[in-house]
Amino acid sequence: MRLSTVPVWGVTVKLQGKVAVVTGAGQGIGRSVALKLAAEGAAVVVNDLDEDAATTVAQEVQDRGGQAMPFAGSVTADGFAEGFVTSAVDAYGGLDIVVNNAGYTWDSVIQRMTDAQWDAMFDVHVKAPFRILRAAQPHFSAWSKAERERGELVTRKVVNITSISGTDGNAGQVNYSAAKAAVVGFTRSLAKEWGRYNVTVNSVGFGMIRTRLTESHEVQDGTIEVEGQQIKVGLPPAHYDALLASIPLGRAGTADEAAGAVYLLCAPESDYVTGEVLICGGGYHF
Ligand SMILES: NC(=O)c1ccc[n+]([C@@H]2O[C@H](COP(=O)([O-])OP(=O)(O)OC[C@H]3O[C@@H](n4cnc5c(N)ncnc54)[C@H](O)[C@@H]3O)[C@@H](O)[C@H]2O)c1
Repeated sequence: MRLSTVPVWGVTVKLQGKVAVVTGAGQGIGRSVALKLAAEGAAVVVNDLDEDAATTVAQEVQDRGGQAMPFAGSVTADGFAEGFVTSAVDAYGGLDIVVNNAGYTWDSVIQRMTDAQWDAMFDVHVKAPFRILRAAQPHFSAWSKAERERGELVTRKVVNITSISGTDGNAGQVNYSAAKAAVVGFTRSLAKEWGRYNVTVNSVGFGMIRTRLTESHEVQDGTIEVEGQQIKVGLPPAHYDALLASIPLGRAGTADEAAGAVYLLCAPESDYVTGEVLICGGGYHF
């Protein structure tokens, strides 16, 4: 049984009664997505590698009167996908929105790039969403069949996060860029496969959104710990300044603005949009 929904703080409540899962939602864009979906009435399962961060975001939602629970763990771990999907179904009685957001960069020029760097990008950006959505398939199939028999049309939503590095390329990121491009192919194919379940599958590709991932090394020395290894994220100052100068809107986007683009593809107004890539980059292309 679905839990009854509780009052939320948003002005509009477009996702009342929906259940969402968001990966990598302990900070940055994922956190803003979790807060936005919850503000619109969805119950949200908040995943992150960092257990404290996932718990804090879930608490933040609850403190504002919404529904959320943390689900800590790495999206690349064996068995993660099944546990993640089951947690939403068990706790909230369904699954309507999947946002595959977790990720990071591990940059090098090609001659210095290791197999580990290459594999890590495909594991987190491509294989993890594949496993999560494969785990969701039996539910989507069964629910859509039952809904069809009852004459109901319920639209479920998948949003896979990509990057303009994937759509346009970026020096120093052949691994990340190739993985994010694969996200687009995966998205477009699954949209064709899952039309029969009434599940829309879209991607949002970000340009430069101000988070730990894109902050100038001058401002912040960001690292992410993956399987005990410290990986440097962020941009060299010259690269950061050059990117900023080429954005038509003249600034980096905020995490909340990024979440707005994801929300568009989760809202009922986009129920007939599938297999698309929405670029959220302030007009910026390489
Ligand atoms: N910030 C940008 O400008 C930008 C641009 C293009 C694409 N993106 C994409 O947006 C997504 C979010 O990035 P962000 O900028 O918010 O970064 P961020 O570093 O601020 O947040 C990413 C979150 O994902 C989590 N995470 C990383 N690996 C994980 C794993 N294996 N399992 C579970 N959680 C994991 C981290 O702990 C972190 O909380 C990523 O997929 C990134 O590639 C960001």
